[in-house]
Amino acid sequence: MTRIAIFASGSGSNAENIVNYFKENDNVTISLILTNKANAYVLERAKKLNIEALVFNKTQFLETDEITRFLAKKNINMIVLAGFLLKMPENLIKSFPDKIINIHPALLPKYGGKGMYGDNVHKAVVENKETESGITIHYVNENYDEGKIIFQAKCEVSSTDSYEDVAAKIHELEYEHFPKAIDSLIRK
Ligand code: GAR
Repeated sequence: MTRIAIFASGSGSNAENIVNYFKENDNVTISLILTNKANAYVLERAKKLNIEALVFNKTQFLETDEITRFLAKKNINMIVLAGFLLKMPENLIKSFPDKIINIHPALLPKYGGKGMYGDNVHKAVVENKETESGITIHYVNENYDEGKIIFQAKCEVSSTDSYEDVAAKIHELEYEHFPKAIDSLIRK
């Protein structure tokens, strides 16, 4: 049985999409949703989806092993970052070798690193007059956005696209590919 914990800091539309994708799957369960933001909309979604949620603060996350212990207690064996904005601490990475995956809303190694998240990425893509963008699903290591790439998909960016247009295209790609990529990793 694969027991997944999803970490999210914001709206959580990817988290909800992943939960729905695995709803009928008896071998995979989304056991937990964790967030570092007490007002994140993902908490409303967790309630609606009937999934246990945990809010933690930065100190708990970065300076204690509380979260690692909590995940162990819940028998979590895979972590999915879906719009999670804190860097994963070393103790968590060491406890889940090759079991933490992240989605990034650009074609890494472009538009990665500190400060490059969500709309900041799409604004930079539009400002630089890129003709394409996309998504990257990758393993998480100690450095932001540098773990081994698992999957990428592209979309066109036209000269008239606003950053909101790019964000919408990226979300479509995420909804289509993120759950499937998780599924195929589990089946490997
Ligand atoms: C997603 O587009 C995800 O790729 C991005 O945040 C958004 C969250 O949307 N993640 C990052 O930028 C991580 N560096 P959601 O909360 O609606 O799923």
